[in-house]
Amino acid sequence: MFWKLQEDVLNKRDLELLIEFIKSTSRFTQFTNVRKFEEKFSQWQKCKNCVYVNSGSSANFLLINALKELNKWLAGDEIIVPAVTWPTNIGPVIQNGLKPIFVDVNLKDLAFDYERLKKSITKRTRAIFVTHLIGIPADMPLIKKIVNRRPIAILEDCCESQGAKIGSQNVGSFGIGGTFSFYWGHHMTTVEGGMICTDSEELYKILLLKRSHGLARELPFKYHEEIRKKHKNIDFKFLFLTDGFNMRNTELHAEIGLSQLKRVDNYIKIRNSNYAYFMELCGKYGELILLKPEGISSFSLPFIFKDRIKKMQFQKFIAKYGIESRPLISGNLLLQPFLKTYYNPKNFNHADFLHNNAFYIGNNQFVDTERLRMLSKTMDEFFKKR
Ligand SMILES: Cc1ncc(COP(=O)(O)O)c(C=O)c1O
Repeated sequence: MFWKLQEDVLNKRDLELLIEFIKSTSRFTQFTNVRKFEEKFSQWQKCKNCVYVNSGSSANFLLINALKELNKWLAGDEIIVPAVTWPTNIGPVIQNGLKPIFVDVNLKDLAFDYERLKKSITKRTRAIFVTHLIGIPADMPLIKKIVNRRPIAILEDCCESQGAKIGSQNVGSFGIGGTFSFYWGHHMTTVEGGMICTDSEELYKILLLKRSHGLARELPFKYHEEIRKKHKNIDFKFLFLTDGFNMRNTELHAEIGLSQLKRVDNYIKIRNSNYAYFMELCGKYGELILLKPEGISSFSLPFIFKDRIKKMQFQKFIAKYGIESRPLISGNLLLQPFLKTYYNPKNFNHADFLHNNAFYIGNNQFVDTERLRMLSKTMDEFFKKR
């Protein structure tokens, strides 16, 4: 296998810094290094507050759980989600007693079919949970226009789209909260890890509490005195203000994050330059659907075939040449056993199309001209034969 989906993304410098850090500290659980990483990420993302957690999935869960508490959402309130996304964007909706309302995707930016989105809003809609898929920014100005001052929260999953932009503004900053994943193979890694970004101080406070058991001492110092006064008969160190979880990450993972964050802009540049070349290659053959969005922060290299049989043949063909591939995220999520009851074959034509006709191969800082040239040759060989 010469072209894997994911590669060894920790470099020598990351490892050296990690070793130095381990030697220099006796504190490994969440502490000042986590705080430092959150501050640096806030600067990078240009947002007020960041909460570092142990995965992108935890970030999604915590964001929804915190918003439910903050906004007093009731069981059965509706959250609009796309049919093509990651399972742990839907799981947290259901796990929090809310109702996912699925909307088909479009074939330009792979986010919602915006007409359908408009029609799916009801009196019980509490939030729209956008996914910026494979580095492509969803049309946030349009989504905001559709919401049009109604009290509907906009959440953004940026787990595959760190650094994607609309104009000069990063995705993850258009709604009340944005989530990120630092899992192996994403734009930057902390091995495992995730981040929630928000400009809302109220949401930030609940996120801090819930990340760590509901403990009052997790809040910034400026709030401590007032809370202490309110709850004089309880030891402040063991004062629980809400129901919480343990979704903390460690000082070690934050150390890796601090190191990787310094290089992420360069990684994004390489990914995007690979993507541009890849689109040129795909454009040579009339059999592929091209995605050429503005503001991309490429996550992967997607092949979207007009013909399903060709797609199957080509996927097999490149496997022989050592190129690993996978469905476009998980295809139409409604075909997965855990969501089957929500499926209606009439309503999800584009999600079905992506399920059957698309797959992707990896893109990252290790994909170079030599590999892309090999890909070009492989594509020529396949398409010219047929
Ligand atoms: C769109 C999206 N959201 C959320 C996640 C979950 O992130 P994690 O693997 O860090 O839990 C992923 C995982 O790759 C993802 O692709």
